[in-house]
Amino acid sequence: MASARSTTAAVDQTAQHVSQASSSTWERITSWYGENKALAWTVAGVTVVVAGGSIYYLSQPPKASEQDKKAKKDRRKAAKAAKAEEGKAGTEKDTTAGAPKAAKAEEVAEEELPTVTEESVVSLSEQERKDYAAKLKAAGNKAYGSKDYNRAINLYGQAILCKADPVFYSNRAACWNALGNWQKVIEDTTAAVNLDPEYVKALNRRANAYEQDGKFSEALLDYTASCIIDQFRNDQSAQAVERLLKKVAESKARAIVEGKEKRLPSPTFVSNYLQSFRVRELPEGIKETDDLPEGSGLWNLRKGLQAIHTRTGEGYNEASQAFDKAVEAGGLGQHEAYAYNMRGTFRYLKGENEAALADLNKSIDLDPALVQSYVKRASMHLEQSNRDAAANDFEVAMQHNSTDPDIFYHRAQLHFILSEFSLAATDYQKSIDLDSSFIFSHIQLGVTQYKMGSIASSMATFRRCIKNFGDKSDVYNYYGELLLDQQKYQEAVEKFETAVEMERKSVGERGGMNVLPLINKALALFQWKQDFSAAEELCQKALIIDPECDIAVATMAQLLLQQGKVIDALKYFERAAELSRTEGEIVNALSYAEATRTQLEVQEKYPQLAAKLQGMGAGMGGPAMR
Ligand SMILES: *[C@@H]1O[C@H](CO)[C@@H](O)[C@H](O)[C@H]1NC(C)=O
Ligand SMILES: *[C@@H]1O[C@H](CO)[C@@H](O)[C@H](O)[C@H]1NC(C)=O
Repeated sequence: MASARSTTAAVDQTAQHVSQASSSTWERITSWYGENKALAWTVAGVTVVVAGGSIYYLSQPPKASEQDKKAKKDRRKAAKAAKAEEGKAGTEKDTTAGAPKAAKAEEVAEEELPTVTEESVVSLSEQERKDYAAKLKAAGNKAYGSKDYNRAINLYGQAILCKADPVFYSNRAACWNALGNWQKVIEDTTAAVNLDPEYVKALNRRANAYEQDGKFSEALLDYTASCIIDQFRNDQSAQAVERLLKKVAESKARAIVEGKEKRLPSPTFVSNYLQSFRVRELPEGIKETDDLPEGSGLWNLRKGLQAIHTRTGEGYNEASQAFDKAVEAGGLGQHEAYAYNMRGTFRYLKGENEAALADLNKSIDLDPALVQSYVKRASMHLEQSNRDAAANDFEVAMQHNSTDPDIFYHRAQLHFILSEFSLAATDYQKSIDLDSSFIFSHIQLGVTQYKMGSIASSMATFRRCIKNFGDKSDVYNYYGELLLDQQKYQEAVEKFETAVEMERKSVGERGGMNVLPLINKALALFQWKQDFSAAEELCQKALIIDPECDIAVATMAQLLLQQGKVIDALKYFERAAELSRTEGEIVNALSYAEATRTQLEVQEKYPQLAAKLQGMGAGMGGPAMR
């Protein structure tokens, strides 16, 4: 049977859109976040956001204990009391959520209005200052109401000379806000917050100014603090947190992508990408036995194809360089299209999407009958969300060869990714009919049946797989994933263990070891028994074998967060961002990193809020949080 691990054949790399293996594990980790988030929001009884909330609740044990229930009740009570309190404070302090209002009762005739300067204020008595301040503020509010902002600014300024009141600063900030002077808004709201650290309106106003001024991290920090102070009761602030989290993550991701040295992702990723390709013999003219001049184009092409079989990071780097050199050296004759195809494949893996696309275009120009070039190009189009171009490439490939199982397999992958499961199942089946020896068509068919709700057919497909491909760890790994999804923990763990054992045994033959079964086992033990230490240990093992495995890193981050080890979790989220290949994945990892970091910063900056967070009952008292 042909196998991607065969040491004598070259890999025929018909493309795959995303590494199927990796993406399914990612998907599960992501939906794990998602589910926990939903839980958090229900528990807290609020509609929130990724940031603040996710952490409390993510650091809670998955199931609500009696204690949690009590905390929840207390929390509701506290929230109610706080709301009543706020209502009172609202009238005393400042008026509505929006602008300062003209207070009719305090309206002061123009001629009665005192004029206060830095010099004159010193001779005023305590009582006079208080009276003047009230009058000036009222006049300021009136001026604000009639949009006479410069006059209002002047009046609030005089009021401030009489009395350093946070409300006066905040109101003057509202004027600067109306004039679009963000720097002044920031100055005045900062003065207000220094006088009253829990002044939510001033915080929100400053946050808005920061955001307008492009200072997204600062805005995020203020909105997060404001959310915590008013216990997530203000939807607008909560939405702002979410919006800014995205902005911060996106802008940081852009910087990472631009500054990033283009290099291959982890061997686990590359292997999973490559192993779903049907195996191909080394083509005529570059067989092992052919005598090729060292350093020539053909010699490098063969070297690259052979290096792929090591399944190690080193081997993949060697292959990547060899394909570069093959194209540079030239003299490739009939294999020129194949060389461009392979260089493009490795450029794609490195995230150099434009250069990869150009290589595939060139390959197709040189040899329009090399169908796998269309298939690979389709995956690149798909990654750029260009579905029509992807579909068109499959169409053209079919015109060249309507009996190539690779085309059906990869078109099935396209359907699968677009959740068109019934079409996907048809194409996987066609691919199997044309060549039943390719294991991933069977595995994917089983996964697709599962997604369609045909659990029995899916399980039957996997049992057949075990019979026919019982020596392949992948069968057990994916079977285990589906069992885990059905919460058949015991069986799932057994399958993962079998897969791990098989991987371990085959390491000697072929270098790299696929760490996904280890990570899956970690997830299973965590979900089954909340066994953090066993799960962490397995992830660490995976990271020893493949230190750059982003899935292992992201799983570690989650496990740490669940235990309230926030500072450690942050490090892992940042590392996951570094290791991610696509901008979308980087944004995803950074959103969690930023949410975590902001939460820590808020607590450092506003130590009094730490108590509030604990009051919200959210397990923020983890060891790292003290
Ligand atoms: C590759 O060809 C496609 C058309 O099939 C075109 O849209 C794309 O711009 C080309 N890309 C490069 C980088 O040459
Ligand atoms: C089509 O693909 C199959 C499988 O790779 C191959 O055996 C066959 O020779 C190809 N046909 C043509 C016309 O290229």
